[in-house]
Amino acid sequence: MILVDCIVKNIGQLVNPGSDRVVRGSESNTLRLQDRVCIAARQGTIRFIGSEKDFLSRCRLEVDGLEIDAEGFVALPGFVDPHTHLPFAGTRQDEFQLKLQGASYQEIARRGGGIKGTVRKTRKIEAQALVAVCQKRLDQMLLSGTTTLEAKSGYGLDRVTELKQLEVLQALAALHPLAIVPTFMGAHEIPDEFAGNSRAYLDFLLADVLPEVAEKKLAEFVDIFCEEGYFSYADAEYYLKKVLAHGFKIKVHADEFTSNGAAELAARLNAVSAEHLIAISDEESVKIAASQTACVLLPGVSFFLKLGHYAPAQKILAQGGIVALGSDFNPGSSMISSQLFILQLAVFQMGLTIEQALNAVTINAAYAIDRQDQIGSLAVGKKMDLLLLDVPDYQYLAYHPGIQPVHTVLKGGRRVVDNGQIAYR
Ligand code: NIG
Ligand code: FE
Repeated sequence: MILVDCIVKNIGQLVNPGSDRVVRGSESNTLRLQDRVCIAARQGTIRFIGSEKDFLSRCRLEVDGLEIDAEGFVALPGFVDPHTHLPFAGTRQDEFQLKLQGASYQEIARRGGGIKGTVRKTRKIEAQALVAVCQKRLDQMLLSGTTTLEAKSGYGLDRVTELKQLEVLQALAALHPLAIVPTFMGAHEIPDEFAGNSRAYLDFLLADVLPEVAEKKLAEFVDIFCEEGYFSYADAEYYLKKVLAHGFKIKVHADEFTSNGAAELAARLNAVSAEHLIAISDEESVKIAASQTACVLLPGVSFFLKLGHYAPAQKILAQGGIVALGSDFNPGSSMISSQLFILQLAVFQMGLTIEQALNAVTINAAYAIDRQDQIGSLAVGKKMDLLLLDVPDYQYLAYHPGIQPVHTVLKGGRRVVDNGQIAYR
């Protein structure tokens, strides 16, 4: 007899990604659908998926266990967001106005806006106040179905503030049900203190910040913005090789606006993921598609900056690559925190099928943060991170943009959203 403390029964349509580990290339068009099933868990881990009849003969629900009738809902694994810049202070709607009038991302940065504008505010804010701001953002993400996210530092660009951002993430992990995977991104921009000397700044990060991040276990990944005007290909290679020797896993902001070979570098250094890839060259895309490195595509940036073009998702898939989708939630290039909206952008603007997009926000997003063994699909042994959506079938998630279909969110078997409202407090 399997003893369980949580059961979701009468699920009309259970939608799982094509695989429980990762899908690549043409496999990305496959979803696994089950009708009339129930799922049960104990202590946050799924123990049973099957018919109600089998459940009754093989499982028993604890006396105070949670029982949810999912009649009329579609069930999906919780969305995973593999790329956000969550812990920033302030917002930048002023420069958004300039952008609407036609100024480019790079022009705004030259006029003192951009990342550096947010750095000034993030250096000033008290840790407690930043925790409160982020909590609200996490609630919004939870309501749109995200149950795990990656979050990067990179708005401090000094020792104290970079550590503060990562400590805020640690504090949030204890306060909020959403699971956070932290990334150290001190190499997000070159601070004025090191103007014109990117290498000296990277050496400072390696000597004065990274050892403390490692010692206090404040981050699992390290990321760098490899882009014209920020860090060069040579800078990124120099830095990432040393970062790997410190025992971190790596991610790379690659080919966001200009192509400079960073995606090839990510594949060669066996990065867990390369992000953006809007400007990726043909040679690079062949190389990364053949590698184990996930391509994290962020259509929110093309949309938000009105670039008019998107990362070549279908080309990467045709070459056999691993495509994941992230929000890139940040105040400058993608003030978007809903993975559901990202899924819709991917379908409408980037040319993904609904099946490809669903795989990209679940199992492949989990793979892109090295969590494919625990989340990203609903399978025995994985976490009970489950969404109940008030739609007739999964196609509706793209077909009807703008609605709020997330009715229930279970995080580790606990009901944290109920009837579209926050329910964890
Ligand atoms: O992913 N590319 C670098 N970082 C962010 C933008 C950060 C900002 O503008 O504040 C991005 O697009
Ligand atoms: Fe980013």
